[in-house]
Amino acid sequence: MNHFKQLLASFMVVFVCLMSGFAHAQTPAPQVESANIMDVEKGSDANAQRERAKTQPGNNAPMWRAVNSDQAHYVSIPNKEAGVLIQKSGQEWRLLRNGVITVFGGWLIVLAASGIALLYFMKGPIKLNEAPTGRKIERFTALERLVHWTMAYSFVTLAITGLFILFGKHFLMPIIGHTVHGIILFIFKNVHNILGPLFTVCIVVFFVLVVKDNLPQKGDWAWLKSGGGIFGHVDAARFNAGEKIYFWLGMTALGTIVAASGWVLDMIVPGLEYWRGTMQIANIVHLVSALLIIVFVMGHIYIGTIGTEGAIDGMKTGYCDESWARQHHGIWLDDINSGKIPASREPENAPLSNIAKKIVRTTT
Ligand code: HEM
Repeated sequence: MNHFKQLLASFMVVFVCLMSGFAHAQTPAPQVESANIMDVEKGSDANAQRERAKTQPGNNAPMWRAVNSDQAHYVSIPNKEAGVLIQKSGQEWRLLRNGVITVFGGWLIVLAASGIALLYFMKGPIKLNEAPTGRKIERFTALERLVHWTMAYSFVTLAITGLFILFGKHFLMPIIGHTVHGIILFIFKNVHNILGPLFTVCIVVFFVLVVKDNLPQKGDWAWLKSGGGIFGHVDAARFNAGEKIYFWLGMTALGTIVAASGWVLDMIVPGLEYWRGTMQIANIVHLVSALLIIVFVMGHIYIGTIGTEGAIDGMKTGYCDESWARQHHGIWLDDINSGKIPASREPENAPLSNIAKKIVRTTT
């Protein structure tokens, strides 16, 4: 119970910090033109400093208090923000990023990985009930596979480089040293910045390609109630309700948030003014959504590879075996058989994945 209270308190801290950061960022940009160093000197800050110097010579606290109060002073350079020497919310952003997000984000990833490992070792993969028939049905077109794999490879690279940027200094720098860490960080940061826009294009194109099969359908609710097959078999359409949730929440919602905030951090959003507050908010939004989408994708990769026998075939070769389609997407198979959905049944000699080959070997 105590742990729960601590967790709740931490979430409140995150929420309050986010809100106060947001409030700071919403503060209108400093009006440097109207601010003048003489005005400030005439003001109470300068008086307070003068008084303090009389009573405690060498004590500059009032001056630093003023410097740390987000006041805009005069600067002659075009950068309007340079008039604020110390931006107060920068410290809140730093504490949030390097504290709460790094710590909770790290534990979230560890927890998700442990949960998946536990599931695999305790329950094992979902096996095929029937031996593969050798009759193959087109599951994904060449274009769908090309876009999916470009999205997958760019995402995995983004995740690895991003996690290095966030956690590298804590876990790897003590081992590999400052210099090597600095070189890797420089390379990873640039790779990360370039792949972000490619990933964005992929989610937009993949969304257009498969959205029609991810709309809610009859049977989705029954599939969810059956716990995705844990409490009895329920037929599914081309994509089951679990895949649809992943499509809408994981790829579409989180994908859009992580990509959009990444564009802000890359400074490639036309017309946007990049204040310090803008970048801090974008950074926090990017980190939180990135950590969540990584957890989603970890689950997706597990289910699509070692977690479900034969699942990778469709994405790898374009074709799945009929017995796999019957077990996992019965409504879809019936629609293909009745001619409602056009799908190729060729080629007979389409390559089987290693998993399917193993199943054929063990069942014949
Ligand atoms: C190495 C990484 C990945 C692997 C191994 C993988 C594997 C797969 C497999 C096997 C399927 C086919 C499932 C089926 O036939 O029903 C699939 C579908 C799909 N994948 Fe991935 N994937 C990866 C990364 C990603 C990423 C990064 C995203 C997006 C963030 C993504 C989004 C999707 C979507 C949306 C579908 C179709 C399901 C639907 O629309 O409901 N995948 N993936």
